Amino acid sequence: MPKQYVLFGRPVPRLGTRHTSLLLVTISLFAVFSLFFMLPSAIPTGPSLQIADHKFSIPKSFKSPWKSMSPWKAPAHEPPRQMNDTSGETSWYSNWKWLSYPFSSSVTLDENRLLLPDLLERTPIYCYYDNTLEKDKESREVESDLLLSWRRAWWAQGFKPIILGPADAMKNSKYEELQKLLPEKKLDPTLMTDLMRWLAWENMGGGLLAHYLLFPMGAYNDPLLTFLRRGEYPKLTRWKDLDEGLFAAPKADVAAAVTLATASPKLKSAKDFLESIGADKENAFAVDEPPKSLAFYGARQLAAKYSKVAEAITASHVKGFTALNQLINSHLHLTWQNLFSSGIAVVKPLPHHTTHMISPAYELALRLTHCPESPLPSSCPPNLLKCSPCVAAHPMKVSTPSNYENTSTLYTIGTVPHPYTAASLSSLREEISISWIRRDSPRDPWLGDLTKRVLGTGVSGGPRVLRFKQAVASELGAAHSLWLLAERKLPEDLVNWHFGFPVPTEATWADEGKSETPVPGPERRPPPPPHDPKDGPIATPEELALEPALLSKALTVVGDAKGKLKATKEQVAVREAIEAWNLADTEAWRFARAFLARKAVEREKWEEEEAKYADGMGSEKKPRAGSSSGVLDRWLDRGSSKDKKD
Ligand SMILES: *[C@@H]1O[C@H](CO)[C@@H](O)[C@H](O)[C@H]1NC(C)=O
Ligand SMILES: *[C@@H]1O[C@H](CO)[C@@H](O)[C@H](O)[C@H]1NC(C)=O
Repeated sequence: MPKQYVLFGRPVPRLGTRHTSLLLVTISLFAVFSLFFMLPSAIPTGPSLQIADHKFSIPKSFKSPWKSMSPWKAPAHEPPRQMNDTSGETSWYSNWKWLSYPFSSSVTLDENRLLLPDLLERTPIYCYYDNTLEKDKESREVESDLLLSWRRAWWAQGFKPIILGPADAMKNSKYEELQKLLPEKKLDPTLMTDLMRWLAWENMGGGLLAHYLLFPMGAYNDPLLTFLRRGEYPKLTRWKDLDEGLFAAPKADVAAAVTLATASPKLKSAKDFLESIGADKENAFAVDEPPKSLAFYGARQLAAKYSKVAEAITASHVKGFTALNQLINSHLHLTWQNLFSSGIAVVKPLPHHTTHMISPAYELALRLTHCPESPLPSSCPPNLLKCSPCVAAHPMKVSTPSNYENTSTLYTIGTVPHPYTAASLSSLREEISISWIRRDSPRDPWLGDLTKRVLGTGVSGGPRVLRFKQAVASELGAAHSLWLLAERKLPEDLVNWHFGFPVPTEATWADEGKSETPVPGPERRPPPPPHDPKDGPIATPEELALEPALLSKALTVVGDAKGKLKATKEQVAVREAIEAWNLADTEAWRFARAFLARKAVEREKWEEEEAKYADGMGSEKKPRAGSSSGVLDRWLDRGSSKDKKD
């Protein structure tokens, strides 16, 4: 006889199996709904949102209703659009809480809109260049190249380099007063240029005034560069040994100094601005210790340290300045090489079949190890006289580890594949089916391998994505690494502005034990990236030969930079399935893509702004064809400078 159940003293009627399942369904529905409606208050916001991990990855067709119901992905509206937040297929939302959410779409509600760190406001750094003087074409070009080097170097260090000219000085109301002074007091031409320089600076509201022969040469997080980047200067300051290389001041102090200079009894006899305001007097300036991270190539410094170049300038303006520009760029490059004494890591997760995929990054690394051309090949930067010079026979070390390592002296170049690319390569499959994805493919294999060293195994996708984002986009991470996309060409122009010097077009590599002279020129292809046997099995030549075709196939499926897809409907379905299966790898790829795109847009917009400014000055002439410094050239083409004492 079946057992009789009793509840609150009453017999409970027996339930049939149909009743039982109905009851179970009701109970579970109730449980699910109470979970939905009670959870919001129970779940704190912030980093714990890692709950939104890929445990919840659900086939795409179910994703949207889930998203709007799920209380911990709360935002009901997409966040407001920001200025210039789109480029081709990707867009972004810059927000300081970017490290609170592993998956951007939980905030942006749009999987192609990525959560990026706030774009740092760049502190302007000014230099003055008199562009109104008549000069021959060669001189203008060489000076333009020098100014380009100046802008590129400061841009790479996070500043907004701006070149001021006489037009800026004339906007200053004190300019008229100065004009009135002129007939009586015949001023020294150097002093006159100096005064114009300060008037232009005052007109911009103070800040940083550099000579265009002053270059940042140090680590991104060097204390002085960090201080300068902050943009707040309490007092008119200059630096020992830098002469007129750099001044920092709030606007009021600049104004006071200009007033002091124009009213100075010494004005007529003074040779330059500092003399006219009696800079040797106490309190005129705060004078800081000689800076370790700034290199000044003024006439005095050149004569003392690089006399060969100084002599070249005396002999020929054009040849001398060409040599000086080369010297400076070689020092910028050398400084970079010295900072990363452990070498360059071209990371290669899933190392078995990604040799071709990382080849562009590897070649870039070899180019970075190439010794730059220099009129004084073994010379050191003026601020780092004990450097280790670049020696072609012993280039910087380039390794291809499969895991990311966070070491301050190691530079990382990453190649981020779309999960489709990664899956196709590592399985050596040209056709990928949805059932293969679900049954046989591992989840987020690329990110798992990349972060194995810093996070170990057994960590879910969320924390891995966050660590990856930190490596790519935190201030420190971005200064120690460059992350490219496997499916996009190397952005050459951006690369030079990223490093702050022209990256050599030629690569260097150690010829293992071979004594014959290597073939120069394009025939001399770099060897394929090496493979460390402890990273697992080495691909056979037959397997290696399969990689290029798989890569180009992946390109059609993943799409090119313009977002134009040649993929078929089936391929798109597979791509979406693989994205849903590998949420963390997909997020990493999209993040790297958005971060690169924002970088490119930032630079483009800045060039546009500068162009407007140059046009405003009434420029007419054409920029030099094919030059990345077109804007500057157009501007400079109106004439050239005289304000150098070299
Ligand atoms: C980009 O930003 C600039 C200001 O920095 C603005 O003038 C311009 O309209 C923006 N462009 C777009 C397409 O939003
Ligand atoms: C790397 O290490 C530094 C300091 O040791 C730390 O602040 C930073 O968060 C680390 N970055 C990553 C991506 O692990």
